[in-house]
Amino acid sequence: MAVGIFDSGLGGLTVLEAVQKRLPEVPFQYYADSAHAPYGVRAADDIYGLTTTGVSRLFDAGCDLVILACNTASAAALRRMQESWVPKGKRVLGVFVPLIEALTEREWGDNSPPREVAVKHVALFATPATVSSRAFQRELAFRAIGVDVEAQACGGVVDAIEEGDTILAEALVRSHVDALKRKMPTPDAAVLGCTHYPLMAEIFQDALGPEVRVFSQAELVADSLADYLERHPQMLGPGQEGGFLTTGDPKKVSNRATQFMRRKVSFEAA
Ligand code: SIN
Repeated sequence: MAVGIFDSGLGGLTVLEAVQKRLPEVPFQYYADSAHAPYGVRAADDIYGLTTTGVSRLFDAGCDLVILACNTASAAALRRMQESWVPKGKRVLGVFVPLIEALTEREWGDNSPPREVAVKHVALFATPATVSSRAFQRELAFRAIGVDVEAQACGGVVDAIEEGDTILAEALVRSHVDALKRKMPTPDAAVLGCTHYPLMAEIFQDALGPEVRVFSQAELVADSLADYLERHPQMLGPGQEGGFLTTGDPKKVSNRATQFMRRKVSFEAA
């Protein structure tokens, strides 16, 4: 049985690459809602509708477990889906919890009450929809006390990366880091809360300075998924190949994905 990876577009390939490296024996079914990307500038109800449509498609393709690689979908739709939409026997997980568990130095899946943690000043870089949802702060408050979070909505970065305009993407990242530093001059940790930002991780680190620890999600999601599958082996059954689905133009999306992944990737119409 394949594990589903849902994303608004191609940024989730950073997560796919990490989970495939960590779990080479597991088949993955990737879904890119390229026709509607980016999600980061959409309204919460719109994101919820698009996310449930994509996740339903992954359930229909036989996935019992779906990871929302897209932070914006995790922020705007995941809690609501888990509370009232996900059918019995299926699971949908997001990307914030592994990130916050790493940030607060918890074991994977540790649900003990919130406590004092080493990090005190956290800079969150994310899309406008993720920032306005305050989902990161909510999930953090379940696990840690006394942490000050300053969020920076990084408008334009996802579009620039999707278009392959790295010069513009770098300039935007540097200006968003400057804006954040005006609000929080000395963060001790920074969170890259969007699937696309790991592609600019070096620029974030350079602009923030070496004393700021930058948390990027792909490897953290891979480690926590490996732990989850060990604890829930029933989520993996035999007999299904992975693949790539998109709501966009499969040829165009395959070409961009092949550039992103530096290997041949072939999408089919969702
Ligand atoms: C987007 O679709 O705007 C970005 C994806 C993300 O938030 O991870």
